[in-house]
Amino acid sequence: MAEAPRRKRRRTLVALGSALAVLSPLAYLWATSLVPGEYSAMEMGYVDNGGGPAHAGDHQEHGQHGRSVAELRGPDGKPDVDVTVTARKEKFTLASGQTVDGFTLNGSSPGPAIRARLGDLVQVTLVNESVPEGATLHWHGIDVPNAEDGVAGVTQDSVAPGKRHTYRFRAEQAGTYWYHSHQVSSEQVRDGLFGTIVIDGPAPVRDVIAAIHTYDDRRSINGHTGQSRLELPAGTKVRVRVINTDNAVIRTGLAGATYRVVAVDGRELRGPTPVSGAGYLLPAGGRVDLAAVVPSDGSALRLDAGSAATSLLIGPRDSRVPAVGLSAENVDLLSYGTPAGDLGFDPERADRRFEYRIGRRPGFLDGKPGLWWTINGKLMPDVPMYMVSEGDVVRMRITNTSGQAHPMHLHGHHAIVLSRDGVASSGSPWWTDTLEVGDGETYEIAFLADNPGIWMDHCHNLPHAKEGLMTHLAYTGVTTPYRIGGQHHNEPE
Ligand code: C2O
Ligand code: CU
Repeated sequence: MAEAPRRKRRRTLVALGSALAVLSPLAYLWATSLVPGEYSAMEMGYVDNGGGPAHAGDHQEHGQHGRSVAELRGPDGKPDVDVTVTARKEKFTLASGQTVDGFTLNGSSPGPAIRARLGDLVQVTLVNESVPEGATLHWHGIDVPNAEDGVAGVTQDSVAPGKRHTYRFRAEQAGTYWYHSHQVSSEQVRDGLFGTIVIDGPAPVRDVIAAIHTYDDRRSINGHTGQSRLELPAGTKVRVRVINTDNAVIRTGLAGATYRVVAVDGRELRGPTPVSGAGYLLPAGGRVDLAAVVPSDGSALRLDAGSAATSLLIGPRDSRVPAVGLSAENVDLLSYGTPAGDLGFDPERADRRFEYRIGRRPGFLDGKPGLWWTINGKLMPDVPMYMVSEGDVVRMRITNTSGQAHPMHLHGHHAIVLSRDGVASSGSPWWTDTLEVGDGETYEIAFLADNPGIWMDHCHNLPHAKEGLMTHLAYTGVTTPYRIGGQHHNEPE
């Protein structure tokens, strides 16, 4: 009689044991995936020196204990451009009339179009009136000093409601850029916390800014859904600055006349040839400048954002919609334009070589089971921290076998595209800060490490970054006093 309970107990224990044997590796994986409530970006993952030395040369580091991000500020002096931008959480009306419940900057979204001239000292003060989670401003594509980069928890604390923060930087490269919050960016950018910034070159051109954004499933250009119109006389030479502020690639291009792709990500292309009817695949976060002449045959230029359904007609008052739209072809920057000799550094003499392999696998991300993005086979937070020293020539190979495309964005630097899938770049030097890496593709890029700091290097499909497709490029000897999480609730993604 006493046999039964004992056997039962034993059976229970065996069952428990085998459950544990199955569960404990899972429990272990779960437990090790947990991200602490507060941590430093510097503690994230593991150091990858890319074959270079672990420390900066003795001449650099002797007698100093490194530099703090907080010291890497923009210049002092009287600003040439001085803008105050007030962020609010509120209902607002799109330029085309629909109501959106989201975020505004100075009462609208997109926020103010900031303009500077080459060489200007730009000062922008962010006032957070009512964004409950806090906010920041990141200058997407402008290689500002690190303390001005606007990443909550890495280069500053998130700006709480009632607080303000001033950004200062020199406008060193003419081109098309944008700015957006880098606090809870996957939600704040989607819901409107962004604007455009253009740096004019020595010879300003007639330009049109076209910021594409989808508000609540309604795609718009400068806040206009559907087809909108901009009046310009026939014969006007125009540069259309197209900015993709969404999370996925958008096919753009000009119909109605031939055009040239004159700049990408704030860098001029060399020897741009006329494009007739082809489209251009603009990565999320990326910018492209398209140059054309407003036709004199009664037709307008039509800029498409994904399709003609969301487009901007540019031409005289009664100009027609162009008879022929974009063809199925796309401009390929790998072979577009004319090569140039000197890049300013030699990618063949790299001091560091990194792999940025994007994959996907089941696992736990901060305790949550799912199918998550991996970098070099690892899940956030166990991702590589790419270490460089100032002056290094850096090569990076980005491969993607994750099943989806990723617009990869490196802060603080522009990289040159060397090759795609083993085919060397044969066109204009192609400098980029936001590179679409399609599923199955491999890109080799190179850059000069000339901007010390701790820089995010992430997917600009912002929900992907939140899902772990993010890491940092860090300079030896640079530290950050800011913390992710913690009392300021810093949450860059
Ligand atoms: Cu446009 Cu890390 O950002
Ligand atoms: Cu992605």
